[in-house]
Amino acid sequence: MERLSGTQNQGPRRRAAPPLDAPGPAHPEIARWRPATVSDADDLWQFTRAVGKADHPYHLTTREGIERDFGLSYFHPERDSLIGFAADGTLVAMGMVMAPPGETLARAILVGGVHPDYRGRGIGRELLAWQLGRAEQQLATDDPSVPRWILAYTEETAYRSTRLFRRLGMECARYFQSLERRLDELIPEIDLPVDIRVIRFTSELSAVVHEARDSSFRDHWASQPMSDDAWDSFVTSRKFRPDLSYLALAAGPDGTPKVVGFTLATVNEDDWLNQGYTGSHVDLVGVIDGWRGKHIARTLLGLHLHAARTEGLARATLVVDSESPTGALNLYLGMGFTPTTRSLAFTIEL
Ligand SMILES: CC(C)(COP(=O)(O)OP(=O)(O)OC[C@H]1O[C@@H](n2cnc3c(N)ncnc32)[C@H](O)[C@@H]1OP(=O)(O)O)[C@@H](O)C(=O)NCCC(=O)NCCS
Repeated sequence: MERLSGTQNQGPRRRAAPPLDAPGPAHPEIARWRPATVSDADDLWQFTRAVGKADHPYHLTTREGIERDFGLSYFHPERDSLIGFAADGTLVAMGMVMAPPGETLARAILVGGVHPDYRGRGIGRELLAWQLGRAEQQLATDDPSVPRWILAYTEETAYRSTRLFRRLGMECARYFQSLERRLDELIPEIDLPVDIRVIRFTSELSAVVHEARDSSFRDHWASQPMSDDAWDSFVTSRKFRPDLSYLALAAGPDGTPKVVGFTLATVNEDDWLNQGYTGSHVDLVGVIDGWRGKHIARTLLGLHLHAARTEGLARATLVVDSESPTGALNLYLGMGFTPTTRSLAFTIEL
């Protein structure tokens, strides 16, 4: 893994996780810290919008997404979250630590932020220190023979976050490139392989698309099979668009159709104002081993672009690992996508 930060890679950090009753963060401007609950969803949504506008204005978190996180089997908000309030009751800081199940990699993912009006006062440092401690507690129970990573993602332009991550010992391990494509430009002709049938996403095939996703993303950096509840939460969310999402089917050994490729897309109208255009977002593109290099991804993406154009949308966006070992970046550049912003993945290996 390429190390991009100026800090030295000190290898896995082996130190005992803090005890479960370790004191939480303390800061003179925070009158009260407490775990979040689903009944905070409205306040958290307003808060994440304010943070999002400052740090990642083109992709805002939906209220539904916040609420659904509280239903995930691997998120225990009473232990895995903290929110901080100023004396006047303003929600000033929020930190969550999610440890989704993994097979070959144990991950604890840090999510959170400080309200833009309260930055530069050391609140984020306190919160991040607590999150790192909580992540170490979560990972302490994982099989030590499996790599254990603490992970945090941030936009490259969110300089306070990147500086703080580095200061607390995290290293920038990977860049993720955002790309966009105008839909009024020529969409390349589609050369559908003869042994492939293409259909729109249908919920009847959800479980087998999930399997295809897990199989094709085995090569993807920091990726692990998605839990059933995280998968269902994605494909049943309001922003998920089955009508803009496509599946490639091949005949399986017993004649039953097998999902060998997919492009799954969302539309979040909340993003349009800051983006300055109407758009769709391609969340997942994958083709399973044995079916790659046959232009299946190109075909499915092309169908998405046509459908989004027919819907009257102006642009399509997506995000790709800039070092994708399977050539995803070249695929998108070849389809007329152009690079826009970058986000960074910071890690600590335990
Ligand atoms: C990336 C992925 C979706 C490509 O699927 P695919 O069906 O093999 O892609 P296509 O056959 O349609 O490729 C179209 C173009 O992409 C480029 N491309 C595809 N694989 C490539 C590779 N390994 N290296 C370089 N370029 C590649 C080529 O330009 C190709 O055009 P060409 O045949 O004229 O050279 C597939 O490899 C995959 O599932 N990877 C793992 C999951 C993943 O990373 N998804 C993307 C997340 S953002």
